[in-house]
Amino acid sequence: MQYPVTVKFNKPIQDWCEENRIFLAHVHKISGVYKFGTPLRFDVPVFAEPYATLPDRAFMTTGAFSYCRSSGLPQAMRVGRFCSIAVGCEVMGVEHPMTSITTHVMAFRKYWQNDITKMRGDAPEILKVTPGAKGVTVGNDVWIGQRVLLRRGITIGDGAVIGAGSVVVKDVPPFAIIGGAPARIIRFRFDEETIARIQRVKWWDYAPEHFAGMDLSDPRAFLDSLEERIAGGLEPYKPQPFNLAKVFSKLAGAAARTPPAAPPGWSRDAAE
Ligand SMILES: CC(C)(COP(=O)(O)OP(=O)(O)OC[C@H]1O[C@@H](n2cnc3c(N)ncnc32)[C@H](O)[C@@H]1OP(=O)(O)O)[C@@H](O)C(=O)NCCC(=O)NCCS
Repeated sequence: MQYPVTVKFNKPIQDWCEENRIFLAHVHKISGVYKFGTPLRFDVPVFAEPYATLPDRAFMTTGAFSYCRSSGLPQAMRVGRFCSIAVGCEVMGVEHPMTSITTHVMAFRKYWQNDITKMRGDAPEILKVTPGAKGVTVGNDVWIGQRVLLRRGITIGDGAVIGAGSVVVKDVPPFAIIGGAPARIIRFRFDEETIARIQRVKWWDYAPEHFAGMDLSDPRAFLDSLEERIAGGLEPYKPQPFNLAKVFSKLAGAAARTPPAAPPGWSRDAAE
């Protein structure tokens, strides 16, 4: 499939989301989020597992039972299972060059190339800026508090907690609770032994139906029971992730189309 892909939202897509439990703005919200005919654009492949809640008017790869209340996140973002992302989470934009005489866009964008060529009498050299990773990789059972800013390309480990208002510029270790600007480790959620055990058991590879009768508030007892069930043959929950652009395009039929490429020097990042 060639990206970008634009698909017009319609009744079959809405019904498919209902049937497959793909929520579109808040947990259980599907109908009424998009008017039929609204164009939905996918710049990259976006995958979702059942019971994923995608952000309002935005798409990103989202694992089962995760939800996100922030719509400003890039499609290149990858979120594991059972994550909670509060409102106001954003990923930092492109890095401007800092070793040239100026960090100004005239050094690396073509916005004013014609004007500047006229002013200078020669064409300015346009520095090549490596865009780097656009998204952030988020593990499983991660909780991101309100109004958090994340640096592009970082990885947030399983079980981490990002305190409200944090500016996160580095990878976050699994099960760390971090906060501040720049964010620093406040403490870890559990002792080392429990963290190692959770990472071994990977409870997020299972579904809530597998946790029947188990006490979520008692991690050790929970792990004891789950280990017992796994030893008894419990199989992980492995739904086939849906490629949303592919599924939606199929359901939109002829309505799917690829928009023309942006003019040279312009991109989605133009405002950066
Ligand atoms: C981080 C958080 C989970 C608290 O964790 P905690 O381990 O219970 O932290 P405590 O309250 O015991 O505070 C421990 C230290 O961390 C600091 N701290 C707490 N939250 C912080 C934050 N968001 N940013 C920076 N520092 C923070 C405290 O000031 C304290 O510092 P000190 O030891 O120098 O006094 C909580 O403050 C938070 O940010 N929650 C997010 C809530 C939210 O956004 N909800 C949205 C709904 S999904």
